[in-house]
Amino acid sequence: MQGAGAHGALAAAWGAWLSPGPMEESDEDGEDNEEFLEQLMVQTGREVPQQELEEHYAVLEELGSGTYGRVVLTKPRDGGSPVVLKLMLKEQTERRAFLREYCIALCLSSHAACLRALPIAFESATHFAFGQELAPAGDLYQHPLQEGLAEELVKRCASQLAEALDFMHSRALVHRDVKLDNVLLFDRECRRVKLGDFGLTRVQGSAVGAMSGTLPYTPPELCLLQGSDTLELDSSLDVWAFAVLLFCLCTGCFPWAAATSSDPQFEDFSAWQGGVVGRGVPASWRGFGSGALEMLRRLLTLDPDRRSPAIEVQKYLSVPWVVATSTREPEPSSSRSPLTSGTGESLGGSGGWDAAGGGDVVPVPATNALASCR
Ligand SMILES: Nc1ncnc2c1ncn2[C@@H]1O[C@H](COP(=O)(O)OP(=O)(O)OP(=O)(O)O)[C@@H](O)[C@H]1O
Ligand SMILES: [Mg+2]
Repeated sequence: MQGAGAHGALAAAWGAWLSPGPMEESDEDGEDNEEFLEQLMVQTGREVPQQELEEHYAVLEELGSGTYGRVVLTKPRDGGSPVVLKLMLKEQTERRAFLREYCIALCLSSHAACLRALPIAFESATHFAFGQELAPAGDLYQHPLQEGLAEELVKRCASQLAEALDFMHSRALVHRDVKLDNVLLFDRECRRVKLGDFGLTRVQGSAVGAMSGTLPYTPPELCLLQGSDTLELDSSLDVWAFAVLLFCLCTGCFPWAAATSSDPQFEDFSAWQGGVVGRGVPASWRGFGSGALEMLRRLLTLDPDRRSPAIEVQKYLSVPWVVATSTREPEPSSSRSPLTSGTGESLGGSGGWDAAGGGDVVPVPATNALASCR
């Protein structure tokens, strides 16, 4: 939408929507937001021009690609600064889905930890497109995790992502796709990171069905859905995925393949979480300090109604998250689970995260840690 006049009205609408206060006290946030979003989509839809990509932009580089289409770095032919365009194949994208993602991205752009959308959108014969700021250091999935990131970097990510989620949740929006590849980096040291990809974002309270894909991040209440069952969408879903992401950043591994009782790592975790007698801290969690364990347990509370909000991580930034291998307390043998017994001795590693018998975490190939974390 490069046409004049389009931005003024929309900017006013976004401003009104984003002003905190009355909305947070309303019992009907979800409905208000749904209605607002609908209006914004209708208005935006009227103003999206038809134009061909190559006529207006020279594509410099592909930044990401998938079934949805591509994300490319472009140079406007009229001489402006480079622009990232998210291109969605019309064949695979409903117009409404494109408008929803673009409008939500615009609404969230005022927050420092949400990837900024630009007031540029168009449709070509084959694609829908909208502009975004460039994240020059790529995404967290591309970052070499090996045995986890340095704790300082993990905490920088955690703090900024918690702010982004808190902002979204206070506006009754649920991201629904919190994962490593949707966290964009502006520098290698994670001083500035942003949450991006609002393609699955929906208003809290919408009915959602079972999802395929992204299983390690999916909370147990969603994994339990069968067939056409639905669940009322809640911010606790993002909190679970956020905690799984933090585990990944600290260890370089997923805590489990899926949060289902048939997954031995998850079963081990949930027995400990539920206080089952004789089931202590699972082996793959023993590298965390006690404060971090408490934080993760709160974020990964099995009952979504009792799960802590994402912003709680801020309370834990001053305590150690990863315990130096030489100072880790060995788990008393009586409290070891059958799964972990016999592996607990390997707590002392050669530095970095030692998953205390890494055989019982979702394994990470030595050469490309992130590849297994998707
Ligand atoms: N603004 C940006 N700057 C740099 N890289 C980006 C930017 N936006 C996206 N990317 C890259 O492109 C990838 C895909 O982008 P995005 O997640 O928005 O698309 P998607 O279709 O929703 O992907 P998926 O369905 O796989 O999650 C990102 O994981 C990231 O590596
Ligand atoms: Mg994505």
